[in-house]
Amino acid sequence: MKRVAVLTSGGDAPGMNAVIRAVVRTGIDRGLEVLGVRRGFAGLIQGDFLPLGARDVGGIMQRGGTILGSARCPEFLTERGQVDGLRRLNEREIDGLVIVGGSGSQSGSQALAQRGFPVVGVASTIDNDLAGSEITLGVDTALNIALEAIDRLKTTASSHQRAFLIEVMGRKCGYLALMAAIAGGAEVVILPEYDTTPEQVAADLRGAYARGKPHAIAVVAEGAHYNAQALMEYFGRDDALTGFALRTTILGHVQRGGTPVPADRVLGTIFGHKALELLLAGRYNELVVMQKSQITSVPLEAVAGKQRQVLLDDPLIAAARAIGTSFGDGQG
Ligand code: F6P
Repeated sequence: MKRVAVLTSGGDAPGMNAVIRAVVRTGIDRGLEVLGVRRGFAGLIQGDFLPLGARDVGGIMQRGGTILGSARCPEFLTERGQVDGLRRLNEREIDGLVIVGGSGSQSGSQALAQRGFPVVGVASTIDNDLAGSEITLGVDTALNIALEAIDRLKTTASSHQRAFLIEVMGRKCGYLALMAAIAGGAEVVILPEYDTTPEQVAADLRGAYARGKPHAIAVVAEGAHYNAQALMEYFGRDDALTGFALRTTILGHVQRGGTPVPADRVLGTIFGHKALELLLAGRYNELVVMQKSQITSVPLEAVAGKQRQVLLDDPLIAAARAIGTSFGDGQG
């Protein structure tokens, strides 16, 4: 192996720059030439490569986003897109590729692997919905941002005796919402994995009101059947339903932006280093993940296209319930 490349794909995640830096510096340390691919699979299809030296990745770890750029690339789902990408890699005589991204991106990794190209994926998404990894890159930063918002909103909610619906990202996985609700001491959490109705959510909020709470915080996962917008359409600003006047904050992309927390800088560094070690050891077509608090890897074919969700028998759910967070099921 003489020349390798790295690309970042899909929704960016805080910590991606730490991966790029680690791949480049580990590669150079092992005598390899390293190239970056701009704008994910879209750049790969167009052959948009740039050589990366050790100094090119200096001072990037504390930066959010990805210096290589990223993209959602439906074209790479097609045979034409994949063959064009493969052609670009072969034209540049690249021997191995590190692909940093979430679930959709790792399906792209698997597609290249099936076409015989040596790839290693790195589990990276704020959603923590990748099968095979306990935690993915960017989750901790996104959680910190959600928590800061919850803490801030709580103070104004208390001043005005209001309830807030705070929507967090996470696609169809409720992990971010559940963790933010537990760490933020929310009264209610609404997850995609849990069936709820607006009437039951209202009952849970009324319960908090009846217990004499000065505010109520409901953390809503964006992928829940009744997300913040759907609930607001049902509730309006009618405080008779819940006892509180209601307001909504949708955190959205703010959760993906800005400085990565230390945990994501460290995770990105170890993930990137591990990816390069796997390529050098000839262990292709693997995804670098965290399992039982250890950095390890799993075969791409075992996890590509599979998504992780919150398990309803997770002991965290029972603990959260016991401590005072209800699940929008009218039992709060
Ligand atoms: O997968 C990361 C994520 O931020 C999800 O939480 C969210 O649903 C989605 O990406 C948003 O996608 P986009 O940035 O393309 O709008």
